[in-house]
Amino acid sequence: MTIRPALFLFAAAAAMSACTPAEAPAPMAPMDTSPPAAVEPVPADPALQLALSARASLMPVGDSGVGGELVFAVENGAVHVTGAFTGLKPGSTHAFHIHEFGNCTAADASSAGGHFNPAAAAHGNRATGGEHHAGDIPNQVADSDGVAAVDQRLEGLQVGGGGELDVIGRGVIVHADADDYTTQPTGNAGGRIACGVIEASTMAPVSPEPAQ
Ligand code: CU
Ligand code: ZN
Repeated sequence: MTIRPALFLFAAAAAMSACTPAEAPAPMAPMDTSPPAAVEPVPADPALQLALSARASLMPVGDSGVGGELVFAVENGAVHVTGAFTGLKPGSTHAFHIHEFGNCTAADASSAGGHFNPAAAAHGNRATGGEHHAGDIPNQVADSDGVAAVDQRLEGLQVGGGGELDVIGRGVIVHADADDYTTQPTGNAGGRIACGVIEASTMAPVSPEPAQ
């Protein structure tokens, strides 16, 4: 009995559509020829192909009290990440990386995986031009209010497109300690104190640079 109303509605809808004059000349509805969705780290949503910016909201890991907001924009072929981390100890220095997975569900944020490293490079310092993970970003320093303003240009990354250098769907991590840029493969940066997921955005950056 529970199926019968649904069947009736289906039949009625089919009858109505059959009697409705077709707006398009094609006599038959085209088959859905799109391939089955592949298992990828980044959703193959066509809308994401057009995304030129992304954002991440960082939440505290445990009781760290550290959070943040980041915007990832494409500028002159590189990714420009801007924003701020909050709730840090005044004057403290913290490692900041893009990690492999946009997954902050683990209590210690270990679910974000290791540093984003599609080129299988060694950990290092992007600022000095040496070998480094794609996700390695220079240390961030908190001001007297415990806020670290983020303003970094990241060569060799992309926003959108779904390629292996796409940051969308990756994680962002702030660590308890500074990155020494040397220790493999983590920079000896200590625990994870804030975690966020990089998501496609069609909104304007929340903290844009002054208009030029
Ligand atoms: Cu990290
Ligand atoms: Zn690294």
